[in-house]
Amino acid sequence: MDNTNVINEIRSKVDIVDIVSSYLPLTQKGKNFFGVCPFHDDTNPSMSVSREKQIYRCFSCGASGNVFNFIMDYEHVSFKEALYILSQKTGVEIKGLNIQKKSSKYDKLYEIYELAHKYYQNNMNSSYAKKAKEYLSNRQIDEKMIQEYKIGLSLDKNDHLTKLLVSKGYNLNVLNDIGLSNQDKDVYMNRIMFPLYDLNGRVVGFSGRRYDGIKENKYVNTKGTKIFQKGETLYNYHLAREFVRSKNQVIVMEGFMAVIRSKEAGIKNAVGLMGTAMTKEQAALIKRLSDHVILSFDGDEPGRKACLDNGSELEKLGCQVSVVELDHGLDPDDYILKYGKEAFQNLVNNAITLSDYRIKRLKSNINLNSDLEKTEYIRSVLEETSKIEDEIHREFILKKLAKEFDISYNTLEKRLLSFLKENEEKEKRKEEKPFTIKAPTIKKDKYYLATYALLYYMLVDKRCLNYYNEGKINFPNEEERFLASEISYYYQKYGIITPADFYTYLSDKEKLLPVLKKALELDLNQEVTEKELLDDMQTLREYQITQEIKKLKKQMENENDVMIQAKIGLKITELNTRLKSNI
Ligand code: UTP
Ligand code: MN
Repeated sequence: MDNTNVINEIRSKVDIVDIVSSYLPLTQKGKNFFGVCPFHDDTNPSMSVSREKQIYRCFSCGASGNVFNFIMDYEHVSFKEALYILSQKTGVEIKGLNIQKKSSKYDKLYEIYELAHKYYQNNMNSSYAKKAKEYLSNRQIDEKMIQEYKIGLSLDKNDHLTKLLVSKGYNLNVLNDIGLSNQDKDVYMNRIMFPLYDLNGRVVGFSGRRYDGIKENKYVNTKGTKIFQKGETLYNYHLAREFVRSKNQVIVMEGFMAVIRSKEAGIKNAVGLMGTAMTKEQAALIKRLSDHVILSFDGDEPGRKACLDNGSELEKLGCQVSVVELDHGLDPDDYILKYGKEAFQNLVNNAITLSDYRIKRLKSNINLNSDLEKTEYIRSVLEETSKIEDEIHREFILKKLAKEFDISYNTLEKRLLSFLKENEEKEKRKEEKPFTIKAPTIKKDKYYLATYALLYYMLVDKRCLNYYNEGKINFPNEEERFLASEISYYYQKYGIITPADFYTYLSDKEKLLPVLKKALELDLNQEVTEKELLDDMQTLREYQITQEIKKLKKQMENENDVMIQAKIGLKITELNTRLKSNI
């Protein structure tokens, strides 16, 4: 079935400006809207969104597309899922389309997890749950929270869930594969079951906590499966997103209990790593949420080390990192229970920069009786201080150091200046390195401009399309010819064409998409005069003739026969005359 018309109708019912601005702030300048592009590392508003054309475009990284492309790239979802998200966001119904919420491949696995989740939740309502509820209540997790965070319970029977699922027709091998069963036994027994979610908020695993007071194997997490990789998710990611956006700040914690407790304290922009280790994928997810990251790990040695390590990683990605430090032995959950939510909120609001945190950590490790260690400490602090942008802040640190170690301010300043100079040189070297990611800038000569202008006008102006169909426009390169013929074909088939809808059509034609992007990159108006069209067409003809002349000249060079040489010369003269007389 060809869904193009239905899909185009859906697209025409939404405004790309509304959709994009639900993800990031946009400001209007002239007829376009501008925002910081989410698809590359940037702080400048280099993305423009056109209401008129219903497309977006980044001047810096070249990302562009229609509303579907935006959602697909932003949410990392398939076209179908983007369609679904769009209908959810806007209430536009998707009639006549067989759209499923989930990509079909793993539907059955999600379904099993839904069932298991319900089963565990039901257990929490049974008489067996008395002890577990007592435990939760002691931890200040009340009935309302059990409901809200969908906390369940596994029983002390070792095959209950497995039997249930098998009786519903699910294959035991599948249950083993997805981490719910082990042979014909349940993986989880006698544990409080916290659901784990994928980035879209589907339950894809569990973390089961024992509640018998024994510390070993405190949590058992679902093993890595086709739908769950611990290192590729963040707890609460799907729910935190909108709050992160509105606050422009994300708080990263170790565990889900910390995140849950923070949410109860009104802090909703927190996500959990599930331990202190942060994978590259998680770092990228965090950075995608926000450039402003606050680390709030446990107040113990692993937590402190994680602040330094993960903080540096995030800094390398271009994040501004701050750190919340908790009293020894406390995690955010404990802290909030002990001192209250205002106190924790205060800590978050007063988080110190990663640089300050490093300096603080350095100090806690030195032996104040050793001159050697003190020297090394001062050197490290100065090195760290040189990374701080604020001059006044730097001066504060120097003054404190001078006083504390009874060293002259000048000596310290001299050293700091040499670090600053070093940094500057490093920066310079970095800048001198050629960009590897950026595509080579193409020289946009008049032929290039005419070619892509005509391709664009074919999309928005019927006259131009007619000229093409009448054979009056010949594009110089194969890819451009190919795109033109697709445009013509699309119009013939659907009777109407817009740049935004044509984007959808090209979504699975990877080779042609960049060509379309080049045409839209010119940012031309929809309106074009007859003369402009004819001028561009003339420019293309000119190009063809010049190419032809070039070819002939080469031929002549390689030719030994004088007669043939003369013939070629004649042809060249002819072409040159045509070129001059504009025919
Ligand atoms: P914590 O030990 O800090 O747990 O581990 P917690 O969040 O404070 O939990 P409570 O308060 O003791 O119940 C942080 C995270 O590390 C993972 C879990 O994801 C946990 O949320 N972890 C910890 C495990 O996976 N297994 C463990 O045995 C311990
Ligand atoms: Mn805890």
